[in-house]
Amino acid sequence: MRKILVVFGTRPEAIKLAPVIKALKAEKTFETIVCSTGQHREMLRQVTDLFDINTDDDLDLMKPNQTLFDITANSLLKMDSVLEKYKPDVVIVQGDTTTAFVSALAAFYKKIKVAHVEAGLRSYDIFHPYPEEANRRFISVISNFNFAPTEESKQNLLKEGFAPDTIQVTGNTVVDALLEIKTKLEQPELAAKLEVDLGAKLEKVIVENEFVLMTLHRREKFGTEMQNLLYTIKELAEKYSHLNFVYPTHLNPNVAKPVNEILGNTKNILLTEPMDYLSFLFLMSKCRFIMSDSGGVQEECFVFSKPIIVMRTVTERNEAIDAGYAFLTGSDREKIFHHFSDIDTKLTSGFNFFPKENPFGDGKSSDRIVEILKRGLN
Ligand code: UD1
Ligand code: UDP
Repeated sequence: MRKILVVFGTRPEAIKLAPVIKALKAEKTFETIVCSTGQHREMLRQVTDLFDINTDDDLDLMKPNQTLFDITANSLLKMDSVLEKYKPDVVIVQGDTTTAFVSALAAFYKKIKVAHVEAGLRSYDIFHPYPEEANRRFISVISNFNFAPTEESKQNLLKEGFAPDTIQVTGNTVVDALLEIKTKLEQPELAAKLEVDLGAKLEKVIVENEFVLMTLHRREKFGTEMQNLLYTIKELAEKYSHLNFVYPTHLNPNVAKPVNEILGNTKNILLTEPMDYLSFLFLMSKCRFIMSDSGGVQEECFVFSKPIIVMRTVTERNEAIDAGYAFLTGSDREKIFHHFSDIDTKLTSGFNFFPKENPFGDGKSSDRIVEILKRGLN
């Protein structure tokens, strides 16, 4: 029986690996072990609770205001013992976090195969996003299985000279996760309860199509760029005072502190703690449009037909830009105001931003990944 170790540490990894873990566990020719580095704590628990993921090991590494050195060094040392304990045939990592990079590196040091979910994303700018662009490139170098979410990500890997037989287009597993939760949101009683709970949490009744949903957390913005961007958002909220801005704020103190200081007293900016995934998707389904620098949110907004302002200078999710529903602004005030007004006006006139097919997948990516592993590990 082949032994598979799945490792995650942050919110987005857990969301995107939840359906993979479920599909692996249903495959009885595999023994599937799940390990969390605990790079995140509360934000991760929200996901493991919702998807009912049981971890066999939790390294519980998160420290407040941790540095890249903390999480890299601590998780590398701990992964040595985890790999020694379980001796897996393959280690599955997802995306581009420090957890993903270090777990792949640890597997490589032990000459254990690496399978990379969401392989081949590239911005081709080593500092945007930072350190993720470097992390995912490092992982590609030592991966035996590259599960590319799209044709574009496959082509990136081929261009870089990776062996074609290690690369398969599977779709992005975020679509699998999202469709599972969307089914729950379609239950009227649950949707009604979420609406009441959210109203209480935000201390305001939020009306469908009358709020913008926001997230922001990227490291490369920390400091002055983040502060200036927050002032732009404050200005935007003052101009569009008929709209609310719902902003579940990342727990990273480099984000939470300036957000509370700069946006804390604007009456139509509704700041909250990070939302559990179910509530966040409920908000996504009801919002007018989205402003974010998140990777996952760029992939998810298609399913709810919500255009997105991507507050980054470059993206590795060009599929959303090319499809016409995502707009890159970086932190540039003029671009943000321009696209905000443009999207708002077009929505009022009934403009359709969305093509028929989701460029990120059809919700069957996890099954494809399991099938490829079954064939590849024989
Ligand atoms: C990490 C990933 C990033 C990913 C993001 C998803 C790296 C280098 N960065 O960034 O790629 O997009 O997660 O959200 O891997 N914190 C808490 N509770 C939590 C989570 C975080 O308090 O549940 C606070 C802690 O003070 C922690 C800090 O946030 O030290 C930073 O967490 P960290 O995982 O290092 O970085 P993120 O910015 O979350
Ligand atoms: N998300 C969530 N609650 C929130 C904000 C985001 O569940 O309050 C989800 C979101 O739907 C997406 C994922 O978290 O699936 C994205 O995580 P994040 O933006 O932290 O990381 P990234 O995708 O940028 O790596």
